[in-house]
Amino acid sequence: MTEEKYSIKVVPNENSRIGEVDFNNLAFGKIMSDHMLVADYDDGEWKEVSIVPYTNFNLSPASSALHYGQAIFEGIKAYKFADGRVSIFRPDKNHERFNRSALRLEMPEVPTEIFMDGLKQLVDLDRDWVPEKEGCSLYIRPFMFATEPALGVHPSKSYKFVVITCPVGAYYNKPLRVKVETEYTRAAKGGVGFSKNAGNYALSLYPTRLAQEQGFDQLIWTDAKEHKYIEEAGTANLVFMLNGTLVTPGSDTVLQGVTRYSIMSIAEHWGIPTETRDVTVQELIDGIKAGNVTEAFAAGTAATLTPISEIGHEGEIYTLPAPETREFSNKVLHYLNELRYGKIEDPFGWNFLVG
Ligand code: COI
Repeated sequence: MTEEKYSIKVVPNENSRIGEVDFNNLAFGKIMSDHMLVADYDDGEWKEVSIVPYTNFNLSPASSALHYGQAIFEGIKAYKFADGRVSIFRPDKNHERFNRSALRLEMPEVPTEIFMDGLKQLVDLDRDWVPEKEGCSLYIRPFMFATEPALGVHPSKSYKFVVITCPVGAYYNKPLRVKVETEYTRAAKGGVGFSKNAGNYALSLYPTRLAQEQGFDQLIWTDAKEHKYIEEAGTANLVFMLNGTLVTPGSDTVLQGVTRYSIMSIAEHWGIPTETRDVTVQELIDGIKAGNVTEAFAAGTAATLTPISEIGHEGEIYTLPAPETREFSNKVLHYLNELRYGKIEDPFGWNFLVG
């Protein structure tokens, strides 16, 4: 397969909707930008790749993704610098994770020339959609799903890889009250917890709704076997400052988050000890009671860094220090923002400039 085969055809949108967008009031993921990237896989290879005006799909009702769930996605953000340049934050990491998800779900890998070059061209074309306001960004949603119109359970022979984008503000606009989930399970060892497949999100909806009815915003998932170890929040990873060490659960039932590892890398750069390891619910609760858990937050592309204010476990509520007093969280969020908006040097090489 030659690289020439992946040259991206562009069909410009002659009816831009950008004038209808209120960039001062951006909800998360409601308004899509003018273009999308679409690539079709069939007969063992990626065929035509194109950037076209954002529109609906024409899909067979028998498409296997709709029945057997071969569907994966990613979340990435692009930021606008003060001088107008646009940068995507660490898309190479999302590309790697996307292909790990694809492997586990028996789907084809998406090559760099389609994923990375496609992202770059798409974001460059819709660069006017990248918000300028601090705290806002262009959310990029690459996804792939099985399109073979066949009801037998087997790996689909055809797939669609698509990238859509949308200008966004905060996903969470207040600190979170989270409940430690000890009845339902998100992922088991040997399963698909590490992958970003659509089913991981579908299964979270019912237990999350039950927790929300009890006044919580989100769940802390625990391990499937004993509900003893902390895993992740479903929409984001979890990070704690425990006895002065930044700790994040590291099992393969947890999504390998780009934001949380970026935060861990910054902490290491600052000389703060970090650990990716198993964390028991008991260790967390004992730590909160003893005043040794000084910070707790959710970290993810959409969530960025959202403080956790309260943790519920077996009918008890454990309150964490007030978010505004948390030294590390506030400092690292400020640093991450300065880096992503191009206001400071990027010592890690994480900004991927577009155009
Ligand atoms: C992201 O952080 O990009 C995600 O995919 C999480 C999703 C709940 C919005």
